[in-house]
Amino acid sequence: MAHKAYGLNELREMFLSFFETKGHLRLPSFSLVPQHDKSILLINAGMTPMKTYFTGEEEPPRRRVCTCQKCIRTADIENIGKTARHGTYFEMLGNFSFGDYFKHEAIAWSWEFLTSPDWVGLEPDRLYPSIYVDDDEAFDIWNKEIGIPAERIFRFGKEDNFWEHGSGPCGPCSEIYYDRGPEYGCGKPGCTVGCDCDRYIEVWNNVFSQFNNDGHGNYTELAQKNIDTGMGLERLACVCQNVDSLFDVDTVMNITHKVSEITGAHYGESHKTDVSLRIITDHIRSATFMIGDGILPSNEGRGYVLRRAARHGKLLGVNDPFLYKVCDTVIHENATAYPDLVEKKEYITRVIRVEEENFGRTIDAGMKIFADMLAAHKEKGETVF
Ligand code: GLY
Repeated sequence: MAHKAYGLNELREMFLSFFETKGHLRLPSFSLVPQHDKSILLINAGMTPMKTYFTGEEEPPRRRVCTCQKCIRTADIENIGKTARHGTYFEMLGNFSFGDYFKHEAIAWSWEFLTSPDWVGLEPDRLYPSIYVDDDEAFDIWNKEIGIPAERIFRFGKEDNFWEHGSGPCGPCSEIYYDRGPEYGCGKPGCTVGCDCDRYIEVWNNVFSQFNNDGHGNYTELAQKNIDTGMGLERLACVCQNVDSLFDVDTVMNITHKVSEITGAHYGESHKTDVSLRIITDHIRSATFMIGDGILPSNEGRGYVLRRAARHGKLLGVNDPFLYKVCDTVIHENATAYPDLVEKKEYITRVIRVEEENFGRTIDAGMKIFADMLAAHKEKGETVF
């Protein structure tokens, strides 16, 4: 491994300070609760809280902005835990241009940040850009300005290289893939960038945000050309730390360690306990940040993550409330980047504890009903319940 194994907190800071050197204003993460956007329930990408800056409806505080945005995606929630790849909570790094710089600068800076020894210092030979199929301008920038040979630049269609999330600003994009090495590959002939296996993973997405989707698939050209980039912080940390999944990343692993300390279950012992450990680790991260942003567990199913984490605690043999103790570790690991969590620590911990106690009572009451029904059934001499 040629690059340094930077920690997650270090990488966040490096990204934001890199873009400050390029004239960007660093903004704190926006709340997870969308403020004026009815198309989404929770913030799910770095650009979503800033849609009006892209459309020109609102004046941004500066035309160049960078953020590390808290995000939650719940679309795949039932699969979370079953694989080591997915989580509901993640952070997205992004640099944004609102009608200021465009493709040349965005591409050059993403390459500089990832490959310069002064910054992340990944080996350039492990990186492959992709572009939207007919975006010859992006091709020329990668090829002629950055010097990537033509055969290392991949052209993909709308499915892969046109970014949009719900309605609003969108556009063709250019992604950067990292080659983790043949040992992660499927070994099938033709396995290359774009293959579904674990070898080539996308780390950075440069979106050339120049259209508006009205939500019904009608696209109009925006008045200004924008840049919207997204790089999953945990994904970048996986690459830098040379680990397989987000659950092996330093700060996330510390949360899993805390769960292990309380439950006695250790990561890597069995698939079944790993699933529970991953669900608890991921869901307590989501719950801590959601409650910190004022979302109460009882709201419209948003409390599901907490109840699911508590249920997996029970599967690991813990019957007393314990998630509020893990929440402490989540806050500790995020204290420098999210000082507001530290300020609200007592409140967040209390909300989690009350919810765990309520949930525990519901489960106990349910189990009693079940036991009574079973006993009545047996008394009648029935053998099938
Ligand atoms: N908005 C760019 C991304 O999320 O990848």
